[in-house]
Amino acid sequence: MTDAHFNAAGVQQIIQDRVAVITGAGSGIGRASAQILARHGAIIVSSDLDLASAEQTADLICSAGGRATSIEADVCQDAALEKLIGYTIEKFGRLDILHSHAGIQVEGTLEQINPDGMDASWQLNVRAHFVAARLTVPHMKRQGGGSIVITASNSGVQLDREMIGYATSKHAVVAMARQIALDYARHNIRVNALCPGWVDTPFNAPFMKQMGGRAQLECYVKEQIPMARWASAEEVAEAALFLASDRSSFMTGQALVIDGGECLR
Ligand SMILES: NC(=O)c1ccc[n+]([C@@H]2O[C@H](COP(=O)([O-])OP(=O)(O)OC[C@H]3O[C@@H](n4cnc5c(N)ncnc54)[C@H](O)[C@@H]3O)[C@@H](O)[C@H]2O)c1
Repeated sequence: MTDAHFNAAGVQQIIQDRVAVITGAGSGIGRASAQILARHGAIIVSSDLDLASAEQTADLICSAGGRATSIEADVCQDAALEKLIGYTIEKFGRLDILHSHAGIQVEGTLEQINPDGMDASWQLNVRAHFVAARLTVPHMKRQGGGSIVITASNSGVQLDREMIGYATSKHAVVAMARQIALDYARHNIRVNALCPGWVDTPFNAPFMKQMGGRAQLECYVKEQIPMARWASAEEVAEAALFLASDRSSFMTGQALVIDGGECLR
């Protein structure tokens, strides 16, 4: 960055006018990422399986003075991802940041999870990121660079009991991010994996139900996490902003873990 631009609220516009596509932007970390990127100057394409929630994210951004548009995209459908990237290029002429975020958790051991659960984990946690990045990279090459942030998990750098589908697919996507980073570094395209631990979002609702409620889950988190709490979506979004912006300009192919020390155990 050469000039320091600040918005009316005094926030430095470190990604001023950069166009950012976010998948799974209708809730949790994806929404918080869309909001923080917008607050720092980016133009957001908020996409989600659920159009209403993607629209809500865009509305929140616009009502806070930011710029955002929304579009429905189920990342399991290649055609939907093609439409998402095509729409972005048609509307804005460029694509500077891809935060490929949507994912799935199918729990179980080798004997508990059926092949469909494994396929779903692979499809959403690996293949969809592959397709999204594959569609994005030609535009970033043409522009002379860009930043791709792929949401993995700390389950991509450590193992979780009874989570074969999740841990396997999250390890695979960390490897894939590193491979894309290596292959496209010469094009000034940086690719990093965002690896959160426990984050307080609806993503954990099935596990909460399994544990018997929120109080039980909070006890579990307090016991399991060295920092004795889970993260807010906003804390993880700070790391997404770092990876998406020039603040991480010499960093590529890395798995950035934000987990309150869980993977140190
Ligand atoms: N919350 C956590 O504790 C945690 C921890 C580590 C990693 N993650 C990762 O973060 C992601 C989930 O994010 P969150 O915690 O913000 O969850 P969330 O449930 O708050 O939001 C997920 C969003 O993704 C959307 N979505 C689901 N399937 C989709 C699809 N096929 N296409 C497009 N959008 C889809 C949902 O509609 C929802 O808006 C996953 O990749 C998950 O592995 C979450």
